[in-house]
Amino acid sequence: MARLENKVSIITGGSTGIGEATSYRFAEEGSKIAIFDVSAEAGSKVAQAIIDKGGDAIFVRVDVSDEKAVEAGVTEVVDRWGKLDVLVNNAAITGVNKFAHEVTSEEWDRIFAVNVRGVFLCTKHALKPMMAAKRGSIVNFSSIYGLIGNDDLPPYQATKGAVLSMTKTDAIC
Ligand SMILES: NC(=O)c1ccc[n+]([C@@H]2O[C@H](COP(=O)([O-])OP(=O)(O)OC[C@H]3O[C@@H](n4cnc5c(N)ncnc54)[C@H](O)[C@@H]3O)[C@@H](O)[C@H]2O)c1
Repeated sequence: MARLENKVSIITGGSTGIGEATSYRFAEEGSKIAIFDVSAEAGSKVAQAIIDKGGDAIFVRVDVSDEKAVEAGVTEVVDRWGKLDVLVNNAAITGVNKFAHEVTSEEWDRIFAVNVRGVFLCTKHALKPMMAAKRGSIVNFSSIYGLIGNDDLPPYQATKGAVLSMTKTDAIC
């Protein structure tokens, strides 16, 4: 039996890159897939490719930094498939590659809106159906940059450190 048979999974940022690969892999393991992404054309192609291989998938246009869009997306998934088993918080941006004295507050706020607020909002709204079902799994993507310091992408590194901290705290709470 496939490891995710009959599971329902949301994969944020599932239109491209690691999220796209995760969407295909989860589908191969039997999960129904909801791709939450701002890239509609690419995301719709991934969903269709999964359907063409006999799987079940939808694309939902969700900017993870937008609470109303996240809440509506989770509701759409639960209305469609009756539950939510897995949330993969993969969506992120790298933002600007500037040192702290060069970064504008708008640039700082945007990367935190996607990479940190996005993880918070998706976790918050996914937890409602998961807690009602008394089960569920949440997978967060941090980075080696959440663990070590390096001389590039300071705002990105800060967001990935925050995601690592949120992951540890949410796992305990
Ligand atoms: N690629 C790497 O080498 C690497 C290394 C360590 C960690 N990571 C982490 O892995 C994850 C995926 O990385 P990737 O390289 O595949 O990224 P990517 O840029 O290829 O894909 C990111 C996806 O997120 C989507 N996205 C961007 N902003 C969004 C928003 N506001 N709402 C919804 N979707 C949004 C994009 O449209 C895209 O489909 C990220 O969390 C990244 O930080 C990547």
